[in-house]
Amino acid sequence: MSKNVRFKVQPGGSIKGRIRVPGDKSVSHRSIMLGSIAEGVTHVSGFLEGEDSLATLKAFQAMGVQIEGPHNGDVTIHGVGLRGLKKPSVPLDMGNSGTAMRLMAGILAGQDFECELIGDASLSKRPMKRVTDPLRQMGAEIDTAEGGMPPLKLKKGQPLKGIQYTLPMASAQVKSCLILAGLYAEGTTEVIEPAPTRDHTERMLNGFGYAVHTEKLDGSASKMTVTGGGTLTAMNIDVPSDISSAAFFMVAASIAPGSDLVIEHVGINPTRTGVIDILKLMGADITLENEQTVGGEPVADVHVRYAPLKGIEIPEDLVPLAIDEFPVLFVAASTAEGKTVLFGAEELRVKESDRIQVMADALNAVGIHAQPTHDGMVIVGGKQQVQKDEIQSHHDHRISMAMTIAGLTAVSEVVIEDCANVNTSFPTFLTLANQVGLKVTAEQA
Ligand code: S3P
Repeated sequence: MSKNVRFKVQPGGSIKGRIRVPGDKSVSHRSIMLGSIAEGVTHVSGFLEGEDSLATLKAFQAMGVQIEGPHNGDVTIHGVGLRGLKKPSVPLDMGNSGTAMRLMAGILAGQDFECELIGDASLSKRPMKRVTDPLRQMGAEIDTAEGGMPPLKLKKGQPLKGIQYTLPMASAQVKSCLILAGLYAEGTTEVIEPAPTRDHTERMLNGFGYAVHTEKLDGSASKMTVTGGGTLTAMNIDVPSDISSAAFFMVAASIAPGSDLVIEHVGINPTRTGVIDILKLMGADITLENEQTVGGEPVADVHVRYAPLKGIEIPEDLVPLAIDEFPVLFVAASTAEGKTVLFGAEELRVKESDRIQVMADALNAVGIHAQPTHDGMVIVGGKQQVQKDEIQSHHDHRISMAMTIAGLTAVSEVVIEDCANVNTSFPTFLTLANQVGLKVTAEQA
């Protein structure tokens, strides 16, 4: 797809069938990063062939790691060990991916070569101070653009030293960045998170035989501890399907009368299942079937049947556990009976777009009363009206997909501009959407 793709959605229909969505984006990034710095050959299956995770793959190839694939989700990584990466000859382009840039910054801060991390228009506006501040405390030398934005220029700084750092926000990217830098640091690195965030880095490092200890602290905080200078030993990784991609179809099946859908092999790591909990609180009919553990990550088939939804106040402790799913949860709220209130979610303002403002504008464009607040949104569920304003995705894949799902309950065609970005995380979205009963076409804008 070229950069200017417009989605057109015809309303109506129900969502039926059995589908498998592509591999988890967070796990896919980490599989390449850890496989590359491990000793030995790592085989990955179910790898997400989206632009974001491919950017990570290409970055490690540019640092001399031999990587074969992806072929139908299979990737083979010939690990070079913690100290085996080579200076890339060009800046490393992280595209649209905040995860790639922030986690790579942790690994690159520990190298004895200089390099530069760059990104696209959306990534170039996202805050990086949250990683550069603590990395500098560890001894790294990093230049940024004004305001701490990308590009990041990592200099040959001092050898890193372990620190204790309390995260100012619940962020798995910052936590992971510091744990990865901690592999290269002298002594012990301790990262304290105020609330649970996705723990794929910790689980995968332990899988590679590198101990990361997690200790529960008072309240909802935890401390992760890692000591530098160890070795990762190659392993095989089966990437579960991405719950963040599955979420679009969970909401679709929940809001379209007559729906009955099974989404197979979805990762249900408890740090990621907030979307299921929130939808259930709203009255959704979701059951987990065939639960099992693959490569240290729990998976299940998610069975969703239509059920009328009601508005709720979203419990604040579920926010970090559903952080990527709010665009489509706002769509669910727009169909619910009554008012849905979200607060404590200011992080949404610094995602691929300002997801609070952009989704409020998009829902207002189809006649839904959505009022943005500084850290959330108030949505009054109701019937949509004929689309009156343009809907722009603002370089954000999850806006494109969430508003496609909103088209199911529209009163007339919904048109969304700038949708090629679905390729960053979910290249098969359009095919699967039409397969289960949505009516979406893509045209060159
Ligand atoms: C991610 C962490 C989250 C999430 C992002 C992926 C990760 O970001 O929004 O899509 O893989 O660690 P934050 O850490 O900024 O919340």
